[in-house]
Amino acid sequence: MSGFLDGKTIVIMGVANKRSIAWGCTQAILDQGAKVILTYQNDRIKKSLERFVPDDLDLIECDVADDANVKQAFETIGNQYGKIDGVIHAIAYADKDTLTSGLVNTTKDGYDLAQNISAYSLIAVARYAQPVLNNPASILTLTYFGSTRAIPNYNMMGVAKAALEANVRYLASDLGENGIRVNAISAGAVKTLAVTGIKHHGELLKESESRTVDQKSVTTSEIGNVAAFLMSDLSTGMTGDVVYVDKGVHLI
Ligand SMILES: NC(=O)c1ccc[n+]([C@@H]2O[C@H](COP(=O)([O-])OP(=O)(O)OC[C@H]3O[C@@H](n4cnc5c(N)ncnc54)[C@H](O)[C@@H]3O)[C@@H](O)[C@H]2O)c1
Repeated sequence: MSGFLDGKTIVIMGVANKRSIAWGCTQAILDQGAKVILTYQNDRIKKSLERFVPDDLDLIECDVADDANVKQAFETIGNQYGKIDGVIHAIAYADKDTLTSGLVNTTKDGYDLAQNISAYSLIAVARYAQPVLNNPASILTLTYFGSTRAIPNYNMMGVAKAALEANVRYLASDLGENGIRVNAISAGAVKTLAVTGIKHHGELLKESESRTVDQKSVTTSEIGNVAAFLMSDLSTGMTGDVVYVDKGVHLI
């Protein structure tokens, strides 16, 4: 299909199933004509992807818990596909105790794990993607406004998202001279696998929906369309930004 991403190759990290925000991004980006390469965390996720991902989308393993895996994944991508034009990082994790027990009870291990997977990994991805990124190119991550507000039950993930957003600004500054932009979408609450780890997530989703401007939650396809724009040369003037795609929830 022809669109504003014709000729571009985009790596998307973080599709777990059809509900994933990264899957909404994948569909929007395919609709605009790009080639997409998906990375997956482990064999369990690979099996899930094989049930619905079309055969012409290539899958590459990348567990971001270890820098060596990130390095290996982008070397493989460079060897197999040459230069790429963008990376979407839609990855976050905190263990159940850390997510559910309140920030005051967060252990050092729980803190480190959540920061490593949810915030530090963007730095590793930017570092190892850099040699295979074109000029211009775009890196995008997904955040949530629990980074700047104390949202009930978001706990440690809010702290990790605050670090992630700071990473976006510093990486944008570091990589700008190579033509690499770095931005984040702050998405409204959507029912995905990751959200079900949050205590009382049903209430969070309901409250969030009621605070949108039209009482209808944002969809992964609406988030994906903004991601497609941010992957494209239509957004070469934007870097270091956090763009809200939450149907106005952050306004109130
Ligand atoms: N769902 C929401 O309401 C919402 C709102 C704002 C931001 N976000 C963010 O969007 C991003 C995507 O989450 P989602 O809601 O689509 O949920 P999801 O569960 O579909 O996706 C999370 C992904 O993270 C991956 N992941 C976790 N640990 C990993 C590791 N060690 N290595 C590689 N991948 C790993 C999982 O495999 C999964 O694909 C996350 O950063 C999340 O915080 C979600």
